[in-house]
Amino acid sequence: MCARQVAELGNPRLIVVATGVLHGDGLQPEKSWRQLGAAQMAETFAVNAIGPALLMKHFLPLLPRDGKAVFAALSARVGSIADNGRGGWYSYRASKAALNQLIRTASIELKRLKPQAICIALHPGTVLTGLSAPFSKSGLDVQLPDAAAERLLRVIDALESEDSGSFLDHRGEQVPW
Ligand SMILES: NC(=O)c1ccc[n+]([C@@H]2O[C@H](COP(=O)([O-])OP(=O)(O)OC[C@H]3O[C@@H](n4cnc5c(N)ncnc54)[C@H](OP(=O)(O)O)[C@@H]3O)[C@@H](O)[C@H]2O)c1
Repeated sequence: MCARQVAELGNPRLIVVATGVLHGDGLQPEKSWRQLGAAQMAETFAVNAIGPALLMKHFLPLLPRDGKAVFAALSARVGSIADNGRGGWYSYRASKAALNQLIRTASIELKRLKPQAICIALHPGTVLTGLSAPFSKSGLDVQLPDAAAERLLRVIDALESEDSGSFLDHRGEQVPW
């Protein structure tokens, strides 16, 4: 429905998926495997991985065939398997790792169909929002949402087709998978 309405306006050149959940009603990031629960895990995966995947399904076909176009999903550094030195946050970490894999997989299909289009995972840094507020420790480089959005748009502006399928942070630097 939403994709159909967007399609009526023309082929979008920029789509940013900014949905995500870390905590909420009955949902807290797990510190231990003892806190793992099926319902909480399912909700986190639904919002952080399955939702963006369905957006890929409906919006990647709308990207124009020629010229630069970007589908970017906000992931998180804690979804990096290589960078996981602290543990905890099982569902959030795993759902973002799943999102990263979905982005990478879609980028391969997208390259065949629309070689100039870019599908990418972005880490926004720590941003002062409801999602991060309970966990933002002093000492972290916490950005205001406007500034964070501006940084991400600068990264998106600088993207080239070879960047498709990668995982970049708000400075434009690669985050290890
Ligand atoms: N803030 C950070 O420090 C930080 C760090 C790393 C990565 N990220 C990622 O950046 C993205 C944006 O997060 P944020 O910090 O802007 O958090 P936020 O302010 O809590 O925004 C989360 C967004 O996700 C939507 N959402 C949540 N649950 C949903 C559901 N069940 N169905 C549909 N939409 C739902 C919310 O919609 P409503 O407003 O309608 O509830 C909201 O638009 C997320 O993917 C997050 O994981 C954030």
